[in-house]
Amino acid sequence: MPQSIKSEFIFALSNPGSEKALKLEAEAMGLGWRLSYQRRGFVTFKANAPFSIDSLDVALGCARRLCLSLGKSPTREAAIELIRASQPAAIVHHARFHERKMQGCQESSGAAVPKFGQIIGTVVELGPDEFWAGIHRHAPFLSPYPAGDAGIAMAADSPSRAWLKLEEAARFFDLEFTRKDIVAELGCAPGGVVLALLNRGASVIGVDPAKMADVVLASAIAERENAPNDRPWFFHCRKPAALTSKRDLGQGVTWFMSDMNQSPEVVLKECARFCKMAPSIHGVLITLKLTDLLQVADKAQWFASLAEMGFKTIRLQQLSVHHKEFALLALK
Ligand SMILES: C[S@@+](CC[C@H](N)C(=O)[O-])C[C@H]1O[C@@H](n2cnc3c(N)ncnc32)[C@H](O)[C@@H]1O
Repeated sequence: MPQSIKSEFIFALSNPGSEKALKLEAEAMGLGWRLSYQRRGFVTFKANAPFSIDSLDVALGCARRLCLSLGKSPTREAAIELIRASQPAAIVHHARFHERKMQGCQESSGAAVPKFGQIIGTVVELGPDEFWAGIHRHAPFLSPYPAGDAGIAMAADSPSRAWLKLEEAARFFDLEFTRKDIVAELGCAPGGVVLALLNRGASVIGVDPAKMADVVLASAIAERENAPNDRPWFFHCRKPAALTSKRDLGQGVTWFMSDMNQSPEVVLKECARFCKMAPSIHGVLITLKLTDLLQVADKAQWFASLAEMGFKTIRLQQLSVHHKEFALLALK
């Protein structure tokens, strides 16, 4: 039984450069974990008592993957054997530190999609003779991809990298958007997120004083009042977020998103105002842009603001495509 497996160590896979923030976040959460060993994108922790697979049920935003460590091996085969000896039926994922990134290795034939509750083994290649083996249990809001890295390539027609951030977040959190969704996105120019949402079938009210790219203007409507209901549309509310009114939003907005280069405080203040203007908003997805990743110490305040707005499920997550950023997800 996975519950009975104990280990002295847990390891976390993160974006290289986020290790310090990861340790600070674990400390701020009062987990009692102590740093044991660290490489770029790989941090192991120890605690007073051995860890079990349930110890992994903590939402650490700086960790893309948390595993119960089964130890280090000199070869990939030996690391796989460690997993097989502990969990014969586990799906095995591979990760490696490569090109200064902690990458998930995608199966060319398409990996099996894990089900909730299923045990996944991860082999992490840190060097020619350093292979770590770990296991975790798949659960909601955990990426189904190796090392929490969907490995998506930028769409050729996207006007910005923001397309990647929306696509990675949607895959990580398993978010679905339908024809019924209307997303209000603050900081929408030039339109990578808008393009991704339109392609996923959602309509978008984009707020930004800056110019949009032609690829999204092709779906633009001139008036919010006369939005069509037979196709996803884009309405450009060309002004700063603070000047957006209830009239600009109309009825039926279901998601609040922000990609503004503004502080978390400004973005969360706008989020609260938008949720008041549009009570039909049931989901929030914000790209938080930080000047320093150590601002993750303010996580509890961000969560408290969203809880005050009525959101029940709240997650902070650094994605593989992020630099000094986090995805902040909140659902009612
Ligand atoms: C990183 S870009 C957004 C990229 C965009 N989401 C995309 O998908 O291509 C940040 C944008 O935030 C906008 N911005 C910054 N402050 C804003 C504010 N107070 N109100 C609206 N937009 C704002 C900027 O004009 C800029 O276009």
